Amino acid sequence: MNERTPLLGQVALVTGAGRGIGAAISQKLAELGASLVLSGRTRETLETTQAMIRTRGGKAQVEPCDVSDLASIEGLASRLDEHFHRLDILVNNAGVGWFSGPLHEMTPETWEKILNTNLRGVFFAVRAFAPLMIRAKTGHIVNISSLAGKNPLPRGAAYAASKWGLNGLSYSVAEELRPYNIRVSVVCPGSVDTELGPHTGKDSNKMLKPDDVAHVVAALVTQTSQSFISEVLLRPTQKP
Ligand SMILES: NC(=O)c1ccc[n+]([C@@H]2O[C@H](COP(=O)([O-])OP(=O)(O)OC[C@H]3O[C@@H](n4cnc5c(N)ncnc54)[C@H](OP(=O)(O)O)[C@@H]3O)[C@@H](O)[C@H]2O)c1
Repeated sequence: MNERTPLLGQVALVTGAGRGIGAAISQKLAELGASLVLSGRTRETLETTQAMIRTRGGKAQVEPCDVSDLASIEGLASRLDEHFHRLDILVNNAGVGWFSGPLHEMTPETWEKILNTNLRGVFFAVRAFAPLMIRAKTGHIVNISSLAGKNPLPRGAAYAASKWGLNGLSYSVAEELRPYNIRVSVVCPGSVDTELGPHTGKDSNKMLKPDDVAHVVAALVTQTSQSFISEVLLRPTQKP
């Protein structure tokens, strides 16, 4: 390990690594020396992130997985354990939204998709991967939530509910895993310029960029081991 590659020798799994915030986080952690496991449902976009990391001399492997499917996550956990025998960093970033109207106009199928990805998916990932960290008595779990998990979000009630739930899950799991020397952090960004939502009426030049979130994750996982930043609220400097 040296100052520029503090994560050398560590294995990091990022869900939703094919684009947006997950791609930026993956590239940042690879720059810091970690071996990346890139996950998401679409192999092609994961391969694009992998190519970007490899061009810069980093290490990354592609592992397609749907976080809303327990068998898919458990399969990934066994492959990862077999191959690396460890997981140091888990970034639960995969997420979906629906911002097209009030809750009473939303279909139950859309509700299921949002909650099953943004909240139950994180439960599944913690269930599958925390045992590897507990066994090693070390690890860091970073959950990508949202300021929508702190505030009301009209026309995005299900998304807000999933993120409020994710915050509660994160604070609680942090306490459950502290005795095993595992740190759980939650990051709540404001609007980020990605494909997630239409961000109607907002100036994309003023919005957060995926790299801003990646910078926060890098700071969290390189924090000295006797302390951890449990929650970050990340806002654009100028209101978009
Ligand atoms: N953009 C914002 O304004 C903003 C603000 C605050 C928080 N966030 C949060 O940041 C995270 C990343 O969002 P983003 O803005 O980067 O969105 P994005 O560009 O739409 O990317 C979402 C990623 O999640 C993956 N994904 C979706 N469903 C999945 C599933 N079931 N299993 C595995 N992967 C899945 C997608 O890949 P596949 O489709 O290939 O699976 C994609 O890589 C989300 O949790 C989001 O809620 C975003």
